[in-house]
Amino acid sequence: MRAQVAAWRAAGERVVLVPTMGALHAGHLALVAEARREGRAVVSIFVNPTQFGPSEDFSRYPRDVEADLARLAEAGADAAWTPEVVTMYPPGFATRIEVAGLTDGLCGAFRPGHFSGVATVVTKLLNQVRPDVALFGEKDFQQLQVIRRAVADLDMGIEIRGVPTIREADGLALSSRNRYLTPEERSAAPRLHAVLAAVAAAARNGAETAEACASGIAELEAAGFRVQYLAVCDAGTLEPVARVAGPARVLAAAYLGRTRLIDNLPV
Ligand code: PAJ
Repeated sequence: MRAQVAAWRAAGERVVLVPTMGALHAGHLALVAEARREGRAVVSIFVNPTQFGPSEDFSRYPRDVEADLARLAEAGADAAWTPEVVTMYPPGFATRIEVAGLTDGLCGAFRPGHFSGVATVVTKLLNQVRPDVALFGEKDFQQLQVIRRAVADLDMGIEIRGVPTIREADGLALSSRNRYLTPEERSAAPRLHAVLAAVAAAARNGAETAEACASGIAELEAAGFRVQYLAVCDAGTLEPVARVAGPARVLAAAYLGRTRLIDNLPV
């Protein structure tokens, strides 16, 4: 992988990495399309065990590498990097990246160790491939901020860029986990986006974020969601804000049945 990337770079081309866990959908392919506009598009596929908690869906996470490679070929990706678990975490592996502060709240509060697993595997993927740019979806907004921080703090010299969320026509953000939804849950799911849009509008118009979020949570619970958090946060630090003054983001995580959905919007 590194030799191929070095050859491209020696020929004056830029190399863009799109890290994924596979089960590729149109959201991932939007990142691939953006990568191709910029240079050589390398897509990694690795279901990273260290970012799943003991009671999370690592073993049942959808895996279909052949279908993913066919999708990538069709999308015009230049290379796929599909390491095995033993390559990523050989016996004796002992290092983890911890990003303090940014990982305390939101998903970090409900998924202990998750962002450490993400930061560690993304650091490894960036070191393996050594791209000029790496692309991440705004869908996972806290993840994007955590990776920006780690890459800056560790002087990795790679540009980290966010790409807007791709949605279904009814507003539901595309996710590999949407396939777990029952038909009933699927019809309730777009409510998450609708509530985020309503809270963003209220916050933008000067409402107290606590009030806007409380009524948003009530609406989601009435629609059958179990809400983990719904919060308006500073877009850079992800600290909650009482009233919106600068760039802010509204973010939520909620279960529908056994499926955990996350989404966010700019305020
Ligand atoms: P995964 O969930 O496969 O997502 C790979 C990339 O696709 C992430 O940057 C994610 O934000 C982006 N993405 C997912 N759904 C999207 C959508 N609807 N619109 C736009 N982008 C979307 O995120 C991970 O994998 C992993 O944590 C990873 C970064 C690969 C580390 O293991």
